[in-house]
Amino acid sequence: MMMMTVPFADAIPGHATEPAQGAAWGKVILLGEHAVVYGRTAVAAAIDRQVSVRLTPRPGSARVALPEDAPRVVLSLPGGIESDPRLLRALARAAELFRVPLDDVEIEISSDLPSSVGLGSSAALSVSLVRALATWTGSSLEDNAVCAHAFDVERIFHGFPSGIDNTVATYGGLVAFRRGHQTRRLTAPRPLPLVIALGRAARNTGTVVRSLRERWTATPDRYEALFDIIGHIAASGERAISTGDIETLGSLMFHNHAVLRRLGVSTEELDELVDLARRNGALGAKLTGGGGGGAVICLCERGRAELIAAFSKGGWTAFSTDVGAVARLGRRRSPTGTHVHLHGHSRVEP
Ligand code: PMV
Repeated sequence: MMMMTVPFADAIPGHATEPAQGAAWGKVILLGEHAVVYGRTAVAAAIDRQVSVRLTPRPGSARVALPEDAPRVVLSLPGGIESDPRLLRALARAAELFRVPLDDVEIEISSDLPSSVGLGSSAALSVSLVRALATWTGSSLEDNAVCAHAFDVERIFHGFPSGIDNTVATYGGLVAFRRGHQTRRLTAPRPLPLVIALGRAARNTGTVVRSLRERWTATPDRYEALFDIIGHIAASGERAISTGDIETLGSLMFHNHAVLRRLGVSTEELDELVDLARRNGALGAKLTGGGGGGAVICLCERGRAELIAAFSKGGWTAFSTDVGAVARLGRRRSPTGTHVHLHGHSRVEP
C-alpha cells in the first residue's frame, strides 16, 4: 500500500485554494491497434466524448492516507470505474508526479465516454487528471508534458501502452501514430461518419495485450507477419483518408478486422457486430481498441440511423459520431499544427 504523509499545507505552498479542472477526449483507433504496440503505425481519431476531472479543496485535515485504504476521495464516474483498484493507484501515481498530497481533495470524475470498451477512457482520465493537477499546482504544462505524464499514469491501467491513447486524448484530431516517431496530424477532406456499437461482454485491454504478448513470444514470426499486414493496412488507410476515398477506407477496416481475428483479439460478439454492420450497408467495420469485447466502429456514408436501429433491435447500444473535424474540448481548441513532436513514448519497450 502506498501511504503519503506529507503535511498538506507545506507540500506545495500557494495552491489548492480554488477548484481545478481538466478534460480530455476519448478516441477510436481507425486502423492498427495491437500492431502499434509492436512499432507499426496506427491511425486514430478523437471522438466528441470526454472525461473530465474536477479537484476541489476540502481543507481541515493535515495528512494524507491514500490511496488503497479508505481514501478520502469522492468518485463518480458512470460505468463503474469506481470499483477498479487501478483507478486509485493511478490517482496516487498522478499525485506523486506532481508531489501533491491528495489529502482533503474531492476528486470528481465525470464522463460521457463509455468506460472499458476500447474508447480510451483510461487515457482520457489520465490526461484530464494530469491537466487538473497541473492547474491545481499552478504548473503551466505544455501539451507535450501533459501527454508524457499521462502516459506514465496510463501504464497503471495497461502495463505496456503504445502511447496512442494518451496522444489522441491530449491533442485530439486525427493522427497517424508510431512509437518513437513524430506523430503526424492527418487531414480528411471531410469528417468521417461513424457509428460506434458497444458489446456487452466485460473486458480489459491490459489482459488482452498481455495474452497476445504470450502468443507473440511463443511464435514471433507468425505475429510479426500479421503486424506487418496491419502496418500496411494503416499506411493505405492514411492515403485513403487524405484523398477522401472512404470506400477504400471502409474495405481496409473490414480487412483489418479479419487480421485482428487472426491475432486472436476478436470475440464472437464483436464478429457478430461487424457482420451486422456489413449486412446493413456499412462501408467498413472493425473492433476498435484492445478487443476481447468492447466496441466496434462502422464507417457509413448513408443509413446511420438505420444501422443504429439494427444494433438496438439486437439489444446493443450504438451511437453516431463524426471524426476528423477540428474538435473543441471545453474551451480548449485542438491544435491545428501539422506535426506534433512527442516525448516520453519511446522510453518504454514492449
Ligand atoms: O482498449 P484501448 O482503448 O485502451 O486501446 C488499446 C489499443 C492497443 O493498441 C491494443 C494497446 C495500445 O496501447 O496501443
